[in-house]
Amino acid sequence: MATPEYYVLEGGDRMPRIGFGTWQASDDVLEKSVESALASGYRHFDTARAYENEAALGRALRRWIGSDSARRKELFIVTKLPPGGNRPDLVPEYFESSMKDLGLDYLDLYLMHTPFAFAHVPGDLHPKNPDGSMQVDHTTDLIAVWKSICKLKESGRVRHVGVSNVNEEQLKRLCAVQKPACLQIEVHALCQQPAMVAAAAALGVPIVAYSPLGSKALADALAAKTGREYPDLLTLPAVQRIAQAHSRTPAQVLLRHTLQRGLAAIPKSTNPERIKQNISLWDFELSDSEMSDLSALDRGEQGRICDFSFFIGIDKHPEFPFKK
Ligand code: A2P
Repeated sequence: MATPEYYVLEGGDRMPRIGFGTWQASDDVLEKSVESALASGYRHFDTARAYENEAALGRALRRWIGSDSARRKELFIVTKLPPGGNRPDLVPEYFESSMKDLGLDYLDLYLMHTPFAFAHVPGDLHPKNPDGSMQVDHTTDLIAVWKSICKLKESGRVRHVGVSNVNEEQLKRLCAVQKPACLQIEVHALCQQPAMVAAAAALGVPIVAYSPLGSKALADALAAKTGREYPDLLTLPAVQRIAQAHSRTPAQVLLRHTLQRGLAAIPKSTNPERIKQNISLWDFELSDSEMSDLSALDRGEQGRICDFSFFIGIDKHPEFPFKK
């Protein structure tokens, strides 16, 4: 069966299943990368208040839209409520700050970035205690925050709302109030999350995979801090063998595997050639046995890179999603 290029959301809106991730790029590099991505055909762009790059993304997008307002409708733009905004009364104000920086009339998708919360400290999205641990807000009412996010749709300035980084139990709780338009979680060859993928499918919630190539920058930073080893997905023998068989790159094989599992993905790159590669995925197909070989690479929880251990003390939050 052909692999669809879009998710069709409520109301018929189309979300491209390859989007452009923007975490960890400086402003000028990001603006150039976004120009390159637009030229390569990306129309789905993913940012977050916590990435502190909404203004740079907004500038690049607005340059492309120019005076042709029809172009805005081609785009699917996503940003996220930061962990310091996870209080129902704060949601509208954080949403407005994001909209101001993006400089767009409306947003396609607004996500709750994490189920846990930092203290709300104006001007500091990652507030820390003197000992380096995070200032954590332990009083989070996840359902109240979600209801407040859902309410944003009434203004007409956000078309869809969703969540990120929640676990299965949290997703079910949120769905009982209102089904999120999408769930964004870490998914790649070593962290395939089959149980979560099945649970989300049963609930009818489409998944967007972040770090689909294994987020090397984050893995390297964590390895330097903790000494833990993070295998490079691109050099795994099965990935290399399948890439050679299709005359494709390892990154294309990893992304194609994610797409054929029925998910969307938001790879990041700052390199124009790789940016183009990462969206050139619609003219080849992995066989069932190649899909099985790639699925066998899963390491379960061991494969998770973004476990939030870099936010010291956050694992004590009552809604921390990855309880052992
Ligand atoms: P670069 O920006 O130099 O291309 P993820 O999307 O999982 O977070 O991974 C992003 C990392 O993967 C970045 O280090 C990026 O480096 C690298 N990357 C992105 N696309 C490719 C590709 N097609 N081939 C090799 N590395 C890639």
